[in-house]
Amino acid sequence: MSDQAHLWSKAAASYELDFIDPYLPGVRNPLPQALEELADPQKGTAADLGCGVGPLLPTLAKHFHRVLAVDFAEGMLKRAREHCGELPNVEYLRRSLTDLAPLAEQVDVAVAVNSLVLPDVGELEAALRSIHRALRPGGHFLGIVPAIDAVHYSTMLLVDRARRADMPMDKARQNAAHHAEHALYDFAFGDFRYLGIEQHFWQPFEVRYRLRRAGFRRVRLKKVHLSWSQFAGAPDLKDEPPPWDWFFQAEKQP
Ligand SMILES: C[S@@+](CC[C@H](N)C(=O)[O-])C[C@H]1O[C@@H](n2cnc3c(N)ncnc32)[C@H](O)[C@@H]1O
Repeated sequence: MSDQAHLWSKAAASYELDFIDPYLPGVRNPLPQALEELADPQKGTAADLGCGVGPLLPTLAKHFHRVLAVDFAEGMLKRAREHCGELPNVEYLRRSLTDLAPLAEQVDVAVAVNSLVLPDVGELEAALRSIHRALRPGGHFLGIVPAIDAVHYSTMLLVDRARRADMPMDKARQNAAHHAEHALYDFAFGDFRYLGIEQHFWQPFEVRYRLRRAGFRRVRLKKVHLSWSQFAGAPDLKDEPPPWDWFFQAEKQP
């Protein structure tokens, strides 16, 4: 296992405590509706790429004939099997997203929820190309990526909160940086480091740019409106719209 796969594996045990959950009640997430529109329980194949502990697998198993649950972290796959082992149409595969060669042109709908986070941009692009190859012509690629622009948004709200409390500007900035956990980010490159795991966070323009470079067409983006309940340092910002991640949908040319 690579270092990152090992670290993700270790993170599996307390995954729900440590990571943002796009399936919480109160989150406005376009993914379930989009999956329902693409459902094909008679003959469709879906792949959950970077399936983690498997929160999406029951939905995919209901909507598709065959489901491939792919992750490079054994600890994640173990928990996904425990959670969904009884689903007869789910197959588990330990693989990196950078090498999906055995799936070539087998997948009708590929889904990647918060797993397109490979910190090396060359590997991120290799993953996107291998996902493109895994899709049948006319296949669909859907997912969610963590948004770096939403961290800038939270920062703006936190600076304004501190200014309302009459903090001088340098203190207001320090306060915002603390609550938005700036120490974990490199904003210029969209890097986020937590529990030793390095993740890429995305700007919306980068989603369009990299998906098109990998050969995808009709790239569309929507916000996943997260829940303020997931942001500990901001209980009094609840009157403002919550931070977001980016939902995308794209196609491989028929
Ligand atoms: C933030 S979790 C998201 C898990 C799941 N999709 C969900 O929504 O709960 C990211 C997942 O992607 C997996 N992952 C990250 N990089 C990967 C890679 N290069 N190949 C395969 N899986 C990867 C991790 O092991 C982890 O399970």
